[in-house]
Amino acid sequence: MAEKISRIDDRYAINEKYATLRGIHRDAQRHLSEVEWNYLWCGTGDEVTLKDNTAAFDRYRFVTPLFAGIDNPDTRTNVLGFDLSFPAFIAPFGGEAVFHPDGHLAIGRAAEAVGIQQMVPVAASFPLEDIAAASSVASVFQMTFVGDEDAVMDLAERAKNAGYKYLCITYSPVRQWRERMMEDRFSIRGESGPANFGPGRSDPAALVELLEFTQPRWNWQQVARAIAHAPLPCILKGVTSVQDAHAALDAGAVGLYVSNYGGRTVDRTPAALDVLPSIRKSVGQEIPIIFDSGIRRGSDIATALALGADAVALGRLIGLGLAADGEYGVRRTLELLQREFWTTLGHLGCSQVGDLSEAVLYHPPADMAR
Ligand SMILES: Cc1cc2nc3c(=O)[nH]c(=O)nc-3n(C[C@H](O)[C@H](O)[C@H](O)COP(=O)(O)O)c2cc1C
Repeated sequence: MAEKISRIDDRYAINEKYATLRGIHRDAQRHLSEVEWNYLWCGTGDEVTLKDNTAAFDRYRFVTPLFAGIDNPDTRTNVLGFDLSFPAFIAPFGGEAVFHPDGHLAIGRAAEAVGIQQMVPVAASFPLEDIAAASSVASVFQMTFVGDEDAVMDLAERAKNAGYKYLCITYSPVRQWRERMMEDRFSIRGESGPANFGPGRSDPAALVELLEFTQPRWNWQQVARAIAHAPLPCILKGVTSVQDAHAALDAGAVGLYVSNYGGRTVDRTPAALDVLPSIRKSVGQEIPIIFDSGIRRGSDIATALALGADAVALGRLIGLGLAADGEYGVRRTLELLQREFWTTLGHLGCSQVGDLSEAVLYHPPADMAR
């Protein structure tokens, strides 16, 4: 993929509808109703964590050494055995038909065109099999370990049979306090939400509501037992402390997913970026770490990797691309992210992704070292 980038086309984007992510953002906002926009952008409580996630990125600065620039850095990498054209996954986000009727089907096709992999949530607007059939990159299935263990294993088996390669395990103890959605009377099940919820709404969304909020919670012993019996290797999402990172690895997770769900679970938890360095330092270099919560542009990917992530996951940005122009909007979002990441690598003197380290960051503020 990196070889295919033509620098002239890249700079002027003459044939493209969108020259920047700003244009995609503007179109998305034009296309969505206020209620739909709130579903994409809401956090919980006062949305302090939502703001902190991006403020954390804004506190970092880069070092750009003279005469060390690279004219065509290689953005490719391999994470969890996947060759990626740049270090990114599609984050698992549900209810996506709100943004465009083709939802994760379009997202998968766009991800395939650009050369990255897709995580698919249990709360997607389409059955997991249909999404798997839409492209060759629907590789990680997100599900919650909650409720009846046999039912959970049946769902995991279904994901395996559909061709998924990993399970992304999440935990959701109680319903979230999302005031924008509460004021809008918006429900993911569409019970009292807007009539134009989207034609793709299907059982899985209802299923996740049921599983997450009415069934018994699991403990680490159950998690370890389930991972041992799961038909696919598991990564654990929602890791935000060194303690949980080790608990996840002890339970058998093959990778960690550092995330606070984009500030959508409980407010006033730390910015995900702020907890990343200590987790990487504590688990060592070998454990794969995926990071999300606050990625807004290509240079943010470089910051997250410099602080210890192997790849990032993209949530709201993909929602914007989808709302702006379906499959094309998502593809263009990914291309722009890849190109900005590429130019960032070049300016930082990194010829490849593995060259990113804390050395590319200018005096990380002392309070970041938590
Ligand atoms: C509209 C929306 C729906 C989401 N649904 C899910 C979900 O079903 N399962 C899940 O694990 N995470 C879900 N997430 C969280 C994302 O996977 C990801 O962690 C988050 O978007 C990262 O924050 P950012 O987009 O601000 O960078 C959702 C996020 C959004 C914006």
